Amino acid sequence: MKALVLCGGSGTRLRPFSYSMPKQLMPVANRPVVEHVLENIRALGVDDVGVIVGDRAPEISALLGDGSRLGLRITYIPQEQPLGLAHCVSLARDFLGDDDFVMYLGDNMLPQGVADAAEEFRRLRPQAQVVVHKVPDPRAFGVAEVDPDGRVTRLVEKPERPRTDLALTGVYFFTPAIHRAIAKIEPSARGELEITDAIQQLVTDGATVRAREYTGYWKDTGRVEDVLDCNRELLTAVRRDVAGQVDAESVLIGQVVVEPGASVVCSRIVGPAIVGAGSVVAHSEVGPYTSIGRDCRLTDTRVDHSIVLDGASVSKVPSLRGSLIGRSAAVSSADGGVLHHRLVVGDHTQVEVAA
Ligand code: DAU
Repeated sequence: MKALVLCGGSGTRLRPFSYSMPKQLMPVANRPVVEHVLENIRALGVDDVGVIVGDRAPEISALLGDGSRLGLRITYIPQEQPLGLAHCVSLARDFLGDDDFVMYLGDNMLPQGVADAAEEFRRLRPQAQVVVHKVPDPRAFGVAEVDPDGRVTRLVEKPERPRTDLALTGVYFFTPAIHRAIAKIEPSARGELEITDAIQQLVTDGATVRAREYTGYWKDTGRVEDVLDCNRELLTAVRRDVAGQVDAESVLIGQVVVEPGASVVCSRIVGPAIVGAGSVVAHSEVGPYTSIGRDCRLTDTRVDHSIVLDGASVSKVPSLRGSLIGRSAAVSSADGGVLHHRLVVGDHTQVEVAA
């Protein structure tokens, strides 16, 4: 089995970050989303991976390289415009050949993994298998209708009035039958070749399409709130690991990671929290549920339930909560103060908050 990971698209919902960072590279628990994706693929025993890349190809290939660091062989497949998930499959036709493959959207987080679904696909080998997750409101997703034996009877992309609560997650298992189905479909109202329509085409043609329910935590990291929520979820699983320097005046409580080369001075870190390599936290309070990236500087600041990306600095901000601070951004307050702030700050931005 091969894998196809989708890292093209425009990611407009993650503004301002998508202007400078593809959403698949957003760090969750200090690791880019796409690395979590590739780790799940590796866990299936799949090492031959095609990665669809759009105009952010240079950043993605700079991170992933040839894949050897992750135990994978990566082939990059350029997509000039985001013309849809099924368009990605047709672009990858030569790479995929006549192999079965798992298609995985590069912005989807399923931390409990998809090994059960892969095992079922390999055992029963339907023409296609989707992975579904129950959500209270599935209108933003593809929605499946499934019979009691686990066979899909109907799929609709982003229906206004969903007939079930089963959302399609971003993980799909395909046999080469999907290529014939894609050849039959037309672009949707949003102008994309939808994979949901291609799978519906398989159902219409009488093929067996199965649905496997995933009951773990699932997030499509399309919006800032989703990234923060996902970060909180993944941090709950980190184990205490203090490799950096912590002075005698500092206190670490609970599941705290201080990466090598980081230093904590006169500060209080409440887990779950991570202080990334090379970062300095001084006279500050960090956490819970907070990730500080690499080479950040936090001084006289309190931050919780937040993500601070690589190279950012925050100084004299008395209370940041639920915030996402971009790479190399500088947030400061001239005189300190007592107000709570919730900030979403893009890369290389300078912000001065009122006290
Ligand atoms: O997250 C699950 C949902 O993903 C499913 O429930 C939907 O059925 C499915 O259509 C998809 O919906 P989205 O509207 O959320 O897809 P999005 O445009 O966000 O693209 C998903 C990923 O695929 C993202 O990492 C970008 C990448 N992509 C997207 C398009 C349209 C590409 O690489 N090329 C593309 O042309």
